[in-house]
Amino acid sequence: MGVESAQTQPHSARMYDYFLGGKDNYAADRLAAEEVLKVWPTIKVAATVNRAFMRRSTRFLADAGIRQFLDIGTGIPTEPNLHQIAQEITPESRVVYVDHDPIVLAHARALMTTTPEGATAYLEADATDPESILASPELTEILDLSEPVGLSLIALLHFIETGAEEIVHTFLDALAPGSYLVICAATADFDPAQIATVREIYRARGITAQDRTREEFATLFQGLDLVDPGIVPPHRWRPDGITEVPDSYDASVSCYAGVARKK
Ligand SMILES: C[S@@+](CC[C@H](N)C(=O)[O-])C[C@H]1O[C@@H](n2cnc3c(N)ncnc32)[C@H](O)[C@@H]1O
Repeated sequence: MGVESAQTQPHSARMYDYFLGGKDNYAADRLAAEEVLKVWPTIKVAATVNRAFMRRSTRFLADAGIRQFLDIGTGIPTEPNLHQIAQEITPESRVVYVDHDPIVLAHARALMTTTPEGATAYLEADATDPESILASPELTEILDLSEPVGLSLIALLHFIETGAEEIVHTFLDALAPGSYLVICAATADFDPAQIATVREIYRARGITAQDRTREEFATLFQGLDLVDPGIVPPHRWRPDGITEVPDSYDASVSCYAGVARKK
């Protein structure tokens, strides 16, 4: 993407950065984000809740013995990043990050601050091509696919309009038993009109967008053992009391989250 198109075309990574209070965004991203905020005033909380779910689910996986992570749709680095969470528990954790936005690549250095015992790598690639991600040297040099991997797809799949189920299952087929799948993605189940408007705001600006019903979300976990408490809004997935959201946030829910283990 050229500098000019980067500055005139909004992108999901930079809009998300804006929602999280970051500075790595352009005027076009802020304008589009402000349009979303008009219909979804709690989206900044939703972005914070997603990040907190990433932290809790990563801790859960590290505590469960996972030492290798594949994080797709990483986003612009926001401390603490996934490898920092995992390596705090297990310094030898190995993490491969994947995103398709050049601005994430430009900031990838922040994702490479590994412990000496562990390793991290960054791959610029599209999630819709799982075979090339799985075959990339960046991945094969860091991850041993004969051992379990934590596959994390947080706030990614609502930017994939078709074939999400096949993509997820192509990744899972390549992973060893005992691997985990972590997903958090948008739904219109709770406020169909609001999310339909948001979907059109993204699509009208050239960003693919697709929310999912609970049933469609559950299909992504087919054949796996869902971890308690199952499929719930992300702030209800094993809350740790660190990122507090008011009880009133239950009325603004717009995402489902779930974690499952491959048998
Ligand atoms: C909303 S951000 C989520 C960032 C991070 N996972 C988190 O939850 O904080 C979504 C990220 O997915 C990336 N993304 C969207 N579609 C993608 C695709 N087809 N392939 C790779 N990355 C993609 C975007 O560039 C963006 O960085």
